Amino acid sequence: MIVALWIVGSILAIFALTVLRGAPYVPSRSQDIEKAFDDLYRLQDSDMLVDIGSGDGKVCLAAARRGARAIGFEINPMLVLLSRWRARRQPRVTFRLADFWHTELPRETTIVYTFGDGRDIQRMADWVQTQATRLQKPIYFLSYAFGISDRTLVTRNASYFLYEIQPSLQQSKP
Ligand SMILES: C[S@@+](CC[C@H](N)C(=O)[O-])C[C@H]1O[C@@H](n2cnc3c(N)ncnc32)[C@H](O)[C@@H]1O
Repeated sequence: MIVALWIVGSILAIFALTVLRGAPYVPSRSQDIEKAFDDLYRLQDSDMLVDIGSGDGKVCLAAARRGARAIGFEINPMLVLLSRWRARRQPRVTFRLADFWHTELPRETTIVYTFGDGRDIQRMADWVQTQATRLQKPIYFLSYAFGISDRTLVTRNASYFLYEIQPSLQQSKP
C-alpha cells in the first residue's frame, strides 16, 4: 500500500513540477489537429514538424501519418516514455526528453507546433525567431489556442494561429 502511494505520489509530483517550466499537460483535440493540417498548413514529405512540449505525442504522430518527419521535445519523462511506445512502429517520429528552452531546432525544421499557454506564447515566438535567425531561414509557427498580438498572421481558424517567422536582420560587421 505504501509503495503504491509512493508511486502515485511520484507520478503526480512529476506532472506538478513540469508546470514550473511551461504549460501543463492537456492534449490538443484530435479533430482540431486534423483540421489544421487540412486547412491551414498542408504537411508534405519534405516537412519536419517540431512540437515544443509534445505531451503524449499525438501531434507528431498525426504529422507522420501525413508523411512528414516529426520531433517532440517533452520535459515530462512519463510522457516521453508513453510517446515513444505509441510511436514504436513509426520511424519518422522521435521524442527527446528535453526542456525546449535549452535546445536548438534541427536544421531541417520547417514548422514548430505549440499548445503553450498565454504567459509564454510571446516568448515562444521570440525563441522560434532566435532559431530562425541561427538557421537563416523562415520557420512556420502553428499555435493552438493562443495568438500573438505583435506578429502578422498568415492565416487562422477557430482553434489555431499560423505565423511565418522570419530570421532577424543581422547587423553587418563594420
Ligand atoms: C498543453 S500540453 C500540449 C501537448 C501536445 N503538444 C498536444 O498539443 O497535444 C504542453 C506540454 O508541454 C510540456 N512542457 C511544458 N514546458 C516544457 C518545456 N520547457 N520543455 C518541454 N516540454 C514542456 C508539458 O509537460 C506538456 O506535456
